Amino acid sequence: MKIVKSDFVKSGTKKEHLPTDGKMEVVFCGRSNVGKSSFINMLVNRKNLAHTSSKPGKTQTLNYYIINDEFYFVDVPGYGYAKVPKPLKEAFGKMIEDYLSERKELQMAFLLVDFRHEPTADDKLMYEYFNYYGIPVTVICTKADKVKKSQYLHNMKVIRETLGAPKDQKIILTSSEERIGLEETLELLEDLLNNYNHE
Ligand code: GTP
Ligand code: MG
Repeated sequence: MKIVKSDFVKSGTKKEHLPTDGKMEVVFCGRSNVGKSSFINMLVNRKNLAHTSSKPGKTQTLNYYIINDEFYFVDVPGYGYAKVPKPLKEAFGKMIEDYLSERKELQMAFLLVDFRHEPTADDKLMYEYFNYYGIPVTVICTKADKVKKSQYLHNMKVIRETLGAPKDQKIILTSSEERIGLEETLELLEDLLNNYNHE
């Protein structure tokens, strides 16, 4: 697919704030600063649709973007950022959990992990959480431009093994800097959308 149109729709923190038109949704989850907003911007080919920052914790609400007038991208706050005050952190956790466990429109979670590092305990928990709730997940390795090609296979293996992901778990290598992984992700979105509309 080509993404020819993308617009910010709304931010929300509660069920009551979310769209009610039944359109398909995909969500982008991952550690603070892993590159969720940058990845979204690459997909939609815009510099700053989703706001990015070198300071972790930029995204603090569920942010809805409508894509090609047809489906939604949902950008959620990152986890694992120690400086977020604790009560706030708990509220975030609940907001995301409520969303993930109850949202019928949600067809895929993209779990973003930093390609340079072993996934964190939080990444692992998140992965298990998706499995528990039966949410299909695609692992997106970010910042591939920071990794030497000779390290690719090794890092991929570490990520798969640390997450405990089976052989058929889809893992896509990406870089928002160098626009790696764009086509593969767009193809996946196209398949999801075709299946959703024919249900
Ligand atoms: P929160 O909203 O705080 O959870 O962060 P986020 O996951 O949305 O991360 P964001 O997209 O804001 O990116 C964080 C930082 O990583 C920024 O400084 C980006 O420029 C940088 N970054 C993101 N993607 C890439 C990439 O593919 N390559 C490189 N080299 N840097 C990247
Ligand atoms: Mg963000």
